[in-house]
Amino acid sequence: MSLITVENVHKYFPLPEGKGEFPVLQDINLTIRSGEVVALLGRSGSGKSTLLRIMAGLIPPSRGQVLSNGRPLNGPNSDVAMVFQSFALLPWLTVQENVELGLEAKGISRTVRRQMALRAIDLVGLDGFESAYPKELSGGMKQRVGFARAFVLEPQVLFMDEPFSALDVLTSENLRGEIDDLWNAGMFPSKSILIVTHNIEEAVFLADRVVILGANPGRVRGELTIDLPRPHDRTHPRFKELVDYIYQVMTNPEIEVVGREPSLVGAAVTPPVEISSPWATPLPHVRVGEISGLLEVIVNLPEGTDDIPRLAERLQLEVDALLPILDACVLLDFATVSQGDVKLTPIGQDFATTTILRSKDLFRQQALANVPVLGKMVEVLQEKKSGSVRSDTFLSLWEEHFPPVEAERQFATAVDWGRYAELFEYDTNEDRFYINQGESEAVS
Ligand SMILES: Nc1ncnc2c1ncn2[C@@H]1O[C@H](COP(=O)(O)OP(=O)(O)OP(=O)(O)O)[C@@H](O)[C@H]1O
Ligand SMILES: [Mg+2]
Repeated sequence: MSLITVENVHKYFPLPEGKGEFPVLQDINLTIRSGEVVALLGRSGSGKSTLLRIMAGLIPPSRGQVLSNGRPLNGPNSDVAMVFQSFALLPWLTVQENVELGLEAKGISRTVRRQMALRAIDLVGLDGFESAYPKELSGGMKQRVGFARAFVLEPQVLFMDEPFSALDVLTSENLRGEIDDLWNAGMFPSKSILIVTHNIEEAVFLADRVVILGANPGRVRGELTIDLPRPHDRTHPRFKELVDYIYQVMTNPEIEVVGREPSLVGAAVTPPVEISSPWATPLPHVRVGEISGLLEVIVNLPEGTDDIPRLAERLQLEVDALLPILDACVLLDFATVSQGDVKLTPIGQDFATTTILRSKDLFRQQALANVPVLGKMVEVLQEKKSGSVRSDTFLSLWEEHFPPVEAERQFATAVDWGRYAELFEYDTNEDRFYINQGESEAVS
């Protein structure tokens, strides 16, 4: 039985000053059925939280609709409750009062509220902390309150937006295990769970079905059934196979995601949109130091350890941190990624092992060949007699295509890369870019 259905949902956010719209979600179709745990997996910025907010009725879609229990959604969705990454507790209320808050809004009597809250607090293992204030609790305990507050509403579907990612490794592992135990024991106070995560192992561990989102704009690339008995055993060969496969998918936008078995043929379900302007092409938010750091690690790896999940483990990096660095290495043609493995190109090898001066030359060469926006910046500077441009000139070009915060991040990344490559100088005090007119000849 379908509890929530998302039909052809698109979401655009308006850019400031009537500069058009920024597409965040493109033609999303998704169904949450009774009795299943679904993980929504995607990189940072792929629109996971936006989609969750639309399904919770907190913001409307720009196009398409959401059905909850067969009825079109027209405001907050009373069939769902949400657990947030940031806990979102009210500091001036006790644990008990925080948990009761949502019930009060439903007009439930004080005595009943009290009993329901005590049961929920018990279920998350916070017995004895009813009258504690949030500041007295550890991060893990705060998130337990977050769960209790959602549980007490007995929603049909529980939404969790990266509920474990603000916690340290051991605490999150512990809490994740307990949530899974409750679900497997049939004691969970909702009919289904929708969890948003960028952690591949977490998705495979918790979910019956993993829906993979692509980015720019966010779109469903496909879904994968986790065909393992519950609880999902991390040491099972199939578990590792599924994790490896999802790594492959997430490092390669061309891979088609099919129901069960990895398939390397075909294109993405919804192809990414064609991007015309160099200012509209997003750069991965990665510093040059991270690129050279990763390449140096890879060059020194023992033979045969180029498997990306193992690399992430070795570097103690989350997927979300590793994948953009890999993207940057691939973009600059320092590395290739295929079948979940990463290999350095000859230029990448050279870059990782040469002197700092020569590595700057190599970086400049690769940046100009593969990152059109950097070449454009140089062109704009060369066209100026003064060889100088105010930084808002460049920033406004990104603002044509991205919301302000994202435009600033694109700007910062381009500045980092361009400065390292010595394509231009950037004076932070004056907020101006300069190009050395003599040197610029060498670039053009
Ligand atoms: N209110 C808004 N106005 C303009 N842009 C927005 C707004 N909310 C989100 N965005 C943009 O939409 C995109 C998707 O954001 P969203 O928070 O949904 O992604 P996410 O997948 O949840 O990312 P993360 O993993 O970092 O939480 C981002 O580029 C973000 O900047
Ligand atoms: Mg998010």
